[in-house]
Formats: sequence, C-alpha cells, structure tokens
Amino acid sequence: MRRAVCPGSFDPITNGHLDIISRASRLYDEVYVAVMINKSKKGLFEIDERIGLIREVTAEYGNVVVESFHGLLVDYCKERDIPAIVKGLRAVSDFDYELQMAQMNNGLSGVETLFVPTNPTYSFLSSSLVKEVATWGGDVSHLVPPAVLTALDERLRAD
Ligand code: PNS
Repeated sequence: MRRAVCPGSFDPITNGHLDIISRASRLYDEVYVAVMINKSKKGLFEIDERIGLIREVTAEYGNVVVESFHGLLVDYCKERDIPAIVKGLRAVSDFDYELQMAQMNNGLSGVETLFVPTNPTYSFLSSSLVKEVATWGGDVSHLVPPAVLTALDERLRAD
C-alpha cells in the first residue's frame, strides 16, 4: 500500500490545496490530509470545521483520509507508516522554506518530500488571501469549493 500525506493548516482548504490532493490521490493508494494543529495561531475555522470541509470536498476521490495532528509531522508519518510528504510549490518564493522543512524532516526521520508544481491558475492563491478578500466582500467563488464559500459567507457574516 503506497501512502502519502498532504499536511497543512487548511484554514480553509482552497482550490489550490484541492488540486494537489487530487493529484496525490491519483499517484498513491492512500492519501492522508493532516490538519496540523498550531495552538499559537488562532484560525478563522476550528480544526473540526476544517476537517469537515476537507472531508466533504475530497469524498469523491475515495482514497483520502482526513485527520488532525498536534505535534511533529514526522511523528504523524511514523505512527501511520507514511514514507512520503506531498507539497505544492506555487512559486520560487515557496522554495526556500519548503526546502528547509523537507531537509529537516528527512534528517529527523528519513521521510521524503515530493514537490508538485501548483497549477498556474492557483499560483497566487493562499488561505490567508482568500480570507482577506472575502472579509472585505471580494469574490472568491473561483478560488474555493462551493462548500467552503458557503462556510466563509456564514462565518464572516456572523462576525
Ligand atoms: O498550510 P501551512 O500553514 O503552510 O502548513 C505548514 C505545516 C503545517 C505543513 C508545517 O508548519 C508543519 O509541518 N507543521 C507541523 C510541525 C512540524 O513538524 N514542524 C517542523 C517542520 S520541519
């Protein structure tokens, strides 16, 4: 069984994340989406809400498991016998930090990181920008799945 993990904060999941997860799901038998918990970062969505949205929008792939994890990504991988991390690279600016993390993770446990070039349609896309644009009433309907758009509308209208 070939397994890989797509880790992230997913606050919320965007079409850019989904593109990487769907491509990973075609390359691996089982893809784990790990919502990594960072207690020092208060998100717009609670961890359980992020998980619910990711489950909803990845259900059609049939081989995606969505979980949260508090701790090091390498420990998550070790516990589940996952040898590979799949990450999207949007631009050269992502590369420095992603390379550092990949080398650190490999040094800690031998886990490999595979970089997938992001679909150019999403090369500028991030959860933070989606939240900022949506907060000020901008249209993000082409950047997130419909379920996420609804959740954003509800959350931002409530605030
Ligand atoms: O979506 P993000 O916030 O860019 O994802 C970053 C994430 C969660 C993948 C990264 O911060 C991470 O792996 N955190 C888990 C803690 C950890 O293992 N840190 C050491 C990385 S070398």
